[in-house]
Amino acid sequence: MILVTGGAGFIGSNFVLDWLAHVGEPVVNLDALTYAGNLRNLEPLRHDTRHTFVRGDICDRMLIDRLLADHRPRAIVHLAAESHVDRSIQGPSAFIRTNIEGTFALLEAARAYWSRLPEHEQRLFRFHHVSTDEVYGSLDPDASPFTERHAYEPNSPYAASKAASDHLVRAWYHTYGLPVVTTNCSNNYGPLHFPEKLIPLMIVRALAGKPLPVYGDGLQVRDWLYVKDHCSAIREVLARGSAGETYNIGGRNEQTNIDIVRHICALLDELRPDPSGPYARLITHVADRPGHDRRYAIDAGKIERELGWRPTETFETGLRKTVQWYLANAEWVADVQSGAYRDWLAANYAGRGDHTA
Ligand code: NAD
Ligand code: DAU
Repeated sequence: MILVTGGAGFIGSNFVLDWLAHVGEPVVNLDALTYAGNLRNLEPLRHDTRHTFVRGDICDRMLIDRLLADHRPRAIVHLAAESHVDRSIQGPSAFIRTNIEGTFALLEAARAYWSRLPEHEQRLFRFHHVSTDEVYGSLDPDASPFTERHAYEPNSPYAASKAASDHLVRAWYHTYGLPVVTTNCSNNYGPLHFPEKLIPLMIVRALAGKPLPVYGDGLQVRDWLYVKDHCSAIREVLARGSAGETYNIGGRNEQTNIDIVRHICALLDELRPDPSGPYARLITHVADRPGHDRRYAIDAGKIERELGWRPTETFETGLRKTVQWYLANAEWVADVQSGAYRDWLAANYAGRGDHTA
């Protein structure tokens, strides 16, 4: 079996569902159920005996030791993190705790467990650290996309905490020989995405007839990958990636934020027309994110060449599926829009000029 951390979050829950559908190997899913974790995401597995959910904190060393001793996983897929850049700007301490101290606790528990495995099991064991392209910083408009050899230049508290965790993972390989792999992925989108992030936020707000808050000029560029394609890349790296290596994952799909928002509006105009007029009328430029990275782009050449991985969705098909998923899952959307969610919108958008947040 494998141990997954953060498997009630956006990518984690997609990964667990995808893993059980494609590989079928049992999963122990450790998640603290912060505001971003949602057991509803795992509803299809309610009666699936291959899935064991454990509510707990990755900083809790005794809990991790116990889970490793009881379940004897052959791999750990580490996704648990604080993941939202704007929240890291408003309150960085949770990011330092979970992303750095939590990864440290997990590495130490993994090292103790791994060092006691028989030799052939030690060789096969993997600690797979799921990281981000944000550790590389911001690209100039005409610069080549990030390769695995790009210097680390993190600019937000979130990116800095993920960079620190990447360095810890690297050091545990070089110093202790723990068989780690790290993947650095670009922006994901798709079903089960918490509506604090750009794409689900815009869909949910457009459907509610609320302003669509685009930071600054909206010409910042992100490289978007459909979440199921990220899941298949993690599967490939876990199956055939080499210990000690890092792999960049991306969809070769650079888009400006304003184009994304317009695209969402056009899809909604087609799929759920609003009698009051085109959704693009709701687009509102608001104050920019402090330290906002201008452009991310991933060179996925290494994983394509060495492991033969390719994304299956184009942005056109992936975004259409995503919008359709949000239209078909109004209950999920209503469920995640709790009082805490509304408080977050007020905290993040009130000072930006979007007064109806
Ligand atoms: P998310 O915020 O949707 O989910 C994070 C999950 O981790 C939640 O279920 C939360 O409850 C859990 N968690 C948080 N703190 C925890 C703790 N201390 N102990 C146990 N569980 C805890 O995040 P996501 O977007 O699914 O991202 C998952 C991982 O992928 C993160 O490591 C993130 O850095 C990385 N990543 C995300 C993207 C993206 O576009 N979303 C891209 C590249 C990499
Ligand atoms: O690049 C990978 C990263 O992508 C992951 O590591 C992070 O966990 C994930 O959150 C994401 O970070 P971003 O900051 O790129 O994603 P976000 O959806 O927050 O923002 C995408 C872009 O949209 C960014 O340029 C900021 C802009 N934006 C975002 C919000 C929430 C807006 O213009 N308005 C908004 O309201």
